[in-house]
Amino acid sequence: MSLNPFLIVAIDGGAASGKSSTARALAERYHFLHADTGSYYRALTAELLHRGVAATNPAAVRAELAELKLGTEVFLSQARMTIHGDKISPADIRSSAVTSTVSHFAALPEVRAALLPYQRGLADVARKHDFRGLVMEGRDIGSVIFPNADLRFFLTADPAARVRRRANEGQADAVEERDRLDSSRENAPLACPIGAVAIDSTHMALGDVVERISRLISARQFRA
Ligand code: CDP
Ligand code: CDP
Repeated sequence: MSLNPFLIVAIDGGAASGKSSTARALAERYHFLHADTGSYYRALTAELLHRGVAATNPAAVRAELAELKLGTEVFLSQARMTIHGDKISPADIRSSAVTSTVSHFAALPEVRAALLPYQRGLADVARKHDFRGLVMEGRDIGSVIFPNADLRFFLTADPAARVRRRANEGQADAVEERDRLDSSRENAPLACPIGAVAIDSTHMALGDVVERISRLISARQFRA
């Protein structure tokens, strides 16, 4: 038996399906770098709104994005985006203005193209920092960003359960509306990629989801 040198784990799913909590727990357990790609779409959205650019003006979006210098700060197991070296404030990217517009920006090919090499580059960031893998979560990780990831998962849960989860966090979030926008866009739509392991967590505790995924990761970490 030998330890598999580096694993890439992709987790996709709709809003509040449990992606971030699951990925965070896995990153800590396996010493993987955790990339929450939704936070990157939110960070670009916050920056573009700040610059007064609307998603209805793709030419202006492209011009502004070309100006932005994206970087990464590794904090514990998280890969956090920086813009011009500045950290992103969690309050800014969770604001209602960002939550209600992020899916419109995320549907633009200009925005997705800007983030594609950035996200793929995080595998090298993880290796450089001696992590044993990368767990990346979002909407198109197993389909577009890392279609050859070692393991790919797709989390689902009933909309009512997901709205309840957000409410428990004190957030109002139109999860179904965002899912509708994310699933119906032309570029990298939200969908379970062929070959991914689908997990319906409507009636599962977070810990049970983590255990189920962990069994498959542990099996892949050791090759006969
Ligand atoms: O946390 P939650 O699942 O509610 O959303 P998020 O992961 O923070 O993502 C915010 C939005 O970014 C999503 O609704 C998508 O529109 C977009 N997104 C995307 O298009 N592709 C990704 N890989 C990640 C997020
Ligand atoms: O990243 P995503 O938007 O997919 O979901 P999350 O932020 O990880 O989870 C949203 C909320 O649902 C968190 O408060 C989790 O603790 C909770 N959750 C849960 O109650 N049961 C699960 N099986 C998964 C998540």
